[in-house]
Order: sequence, then C-alpha cells, then structure tokens
Amino acid sequence: MRITVVGTGYVGLVSGVCYAKLGHDVMCVDKDPGKIRILNEGGVPIYEPGLRELIAEVRQAGSLSFGTDLPNAVRRSELIILAVGTPPLPNGEANLAYIDHAALEVAEAMNDRKIIAVKSTVPVGTNERLAGLMRSRSAVAFDSISLPEFLREGSAIHDTLHPDRIIIGADSEEAANKMLELHEPLTDRIIVTDIRSAEMIKYASNAFLATKISFINEIANICEKVGADVSQVAEGMGCDRRIGPSFLQAGIGYGGSCFPKDTNALIQIAGHVNYEFKLLRSVVEVNQDQRFSVIRKLNAIFGGELEGLNVAVWGLAFKPNTDDVRDTPALEIIGRLLDAGAKVRAYDPVALDNFRTLLGREGVTWCGDAMEAAQGTDALCLLTDWPEFAGVDLSRLQAAMARPVLIDGRNVFQEKELLGTGFVYYSVGRPS
Ligand code: UGA
Repeated sequence: MRITVVGTGYVGLVSGVCYAKLGHDVMCVDKDPGKIRILNEGGVPIYEPGLRELIAEVRQAGSLSFGTDLPNAVRRSELIILAVGTPPLPNGEANLAYIDHAALEVAEAMNDRKIIAVKSTVPVGTNERLAGLMRSRSAVAFDSISLPEFLREGSAIHDTLHPDRIIIGADSEEAANKMLELHEPLTDRIIVTDIRSAEMIKYASNAFLATKISFINEIANICEKVGADVSQVAEGMGCDRRIGPSFLQAGIGYGGSCFPKDTNALIQIAGHVNYEFKLLRSVVEVNQDQRFSVIRKLNAIFGGELEGLNVAVWGLAFKPNTDDVRDTPALEIIGRLLDAGAKVRAYDPVALDNFRTLLGREGVTWCGDAMEAAQGTDALCLLTDWPEFAGVDLSRLQAAMARPVLIDGRNVFQEKELLGTGFVYYSVGRPS
C-alpha cells in the first residue's frame, strides 16, 4: 500500500517506519525542514531505542522516504495518516490547530479517492468535524478512519509491531476492510467500531492507566503510615487476573506527553457535555501531589531546612529509555528544591540537554555521570528508573556523598541491599 504519514513526531515517525517494515511504500512528511534534513541524513530527531537502525534498514530497502512536500506526498498515496501533535492548551483542552491545518492541506491536495486516518489523539467528534472541514475544501471523495495509537515511548517499535490490539473506527465498510488487511499481520485482536467509540477508547485507556498509577500511589502513601510494603501489595493485587500486574509500580507519579494531557482533555470533554468526571479529577490531583512526596521526605529528614543543602538528582526524563522531558516530575521537584535554596547536581543518561532547556533557570550543576552528580551531596533523589541506577556500586556512592541520604522515588533499590550500609533510605510505600 502507498502510505503518507503527516507529522514525524513519536507517533508519526514510529508508525511510518513500522508500516515500511511491513513492506509498504511509506512517505513521512513534516513542515519542519530541519527535522526532515536530519532524517534524510540518517539521523533521528528523537531518542527511541532501535529507531535509527530500523529507519536505516527500511530506507535501504527503498520502502521509506522523507520530505516536506505534503501535496505531492498526498497525491502519491492511497492512505493518508494524520499524526500531528495535539498539545494541551492552558485550559487542558487539546489544541487542534495543527491537525485542522494538516487536514485542510491534505484536502486541497487530494486528486483521487483517499482514506484519511487520524492517529493523533483527538476529542470525540473531531474526526467528523475534520471530515466536514475537508469537504468544505475539496470535492474529492474520501473515507475517514480513527486509528488511535497505543505505543509507549521507549518501547515504541515493539508496541507498534506487537500491539495488544488495533482499534479501527470507520464510517465505511470498504475502508474498514482495507485497514483490517493492513493491520492483520500485526495481531488477530482487531476491533472495528464506529469513529466516536474509537476516539473514546484512546482517552478511556490512558485515563484508566493513569487511574491505576494514582491508585497504587495512594495505597503506597497509606502503606508508609501503616507499615506495609506496596511492592508486596501490588504483587498480591496483580495476581488477580481482573486487576493485572501492570501499571501498579508506585513512584512519584506519571509524566510525559500523554497521560497528563489526555486526562485533562477527557475532563474537559466530559465538562462540555455537563458531566463532571470526579474520579479523573482526583487522579490528576493525586498525581500532582505525589511529585512532592520527595520534597516532603527531604523536609522530614532535614527538619524542613533545605536552604544550602547539596542535593543530587538522578533522572530527568519522565521515564527511562527516552529523552522526553514533557511534564516530567523532575521539573517541579527541582523547581521546589531551588526555590527552597538547595543546590542541585543533576544527571540523566540522555535527557540532560532537553531538561536544561526546559528548566531555563540557574542553580543546577549539570553532571556527565551519576557518581559525579552524587559527589559531596547531602542527599540523592532518584527520579527516573533508568536501569544503570539499579546497578550502581553502593559503597562507592556512599563514599562519594557527604551524607548518605537516598530518596528513591521509583523503588529501584531493595531494602536488603541497603541494610547495614549506613544509608538513610526512603523509598515509596515501603517501610523505611
Ligand atoms: C502512554 C501509554 O502507556 C501508551 O499506551 C499510549 O499510547 C501513550 O501514553 C500515548 O498516549 O501516546 P507513555 O506516556 O509513553 O505511554 O509511557 P508509559 O510507559 O505509559 O508511562 C507514563 C508514565 O507513567 C511515566 O512517567 C511512568 O514513569 C509512569 N508509570 C507507569 C508509573 O508511575 N507507574 C507505573 O506502574 C507505570
């Protein structure tokens, strides 16, 4: 199939590359000539394990190309996938300006019947509205498909090539059948539904996963007070197949470009039809507060006096295996530390530059490795569960620090590893 993907962000780029891997003839277009230049030169504008190698492989096979010429890319393809960003507006609603613009550009370029599939996360009803917009610009017939994306950053290629399910929201049987054929090699769990339900499945899935995280974080907070161990509790709960073991990892809360944006957007979507999504509001509130559990623990250890304290921070990305710092808990935690007069030494294996730009303020010493960040500090806060942190030499770490205080915001270490080492160790939801 000849496919054009509009937008080379995480979703667009990874999807385009994976369709090319399946043997389709894919062209990825982006308005940003800088991104396209990087891609054409064999680089990748984002950090995603395995992506660079896979792009090289499918380009070599001649099944993937990059460009900025959207009209030409539209004319050459039968399927146009819209995967542009829908970032949050200040009020939490999704900003649909980019997708509206892309849809209009596609409409103006259409020369014969196309399938227009939307992979961007968009509020319920958006696909229908976009179709209306496109019809106002073009007399050429097309079919609308809602094709929500469920990939996770850091394991995006695996998630795309081995999905738990594919959701196809369609308004025509013929287009639905074509999309079924396209996705059949990936999984036998394909659900064909109406467009509005497909749009809702995406929001409901992310909202539910966010709910699981806030739920286990609140259980963790109670565990700390009653002397129970949240890791054991999560394991015990997860054995029940109705609950499942995933997304019960207690920590400092979720971040990233998806859960914070989509939970707030769903609250807004409900609000527009006069429904107050009380549960989801609490999920967001709990998540916001959980970030500061690190600061509360530091305050408890240092008697509320953080001024002049030297604090190491390990991990700035919102999760491991990505350089993405959008809505990362580290931003607010480091902000609070600096506001309280602490001095911060920060390290992340790949997200340091992105984070430095995002923070945009002085007071942080940026370090090239984990031990350098820990050097001479009074406390170490671990904020992202990068695998390299788990393998750190604890006696070297203790020797490097002025005071061996370890606040493990992701439960990377096991209590027994630290027993007898002299570390003051606080994790999340486990006895200290
Ligand atoms: C999430 C969903 O998992 C994907 O299915 C979805 O496609 C994507 O959003 C999206 O809408 O595009 P992602 O944000 O890349 O993917 O990352 P996750 O692995 O889901 O992690 C999100 C956050 O939750 C991270 O900050 C992570 O540290 C946190 N988390 C996750 C926990 O605190 N505990 C857990 O048990 C799991």
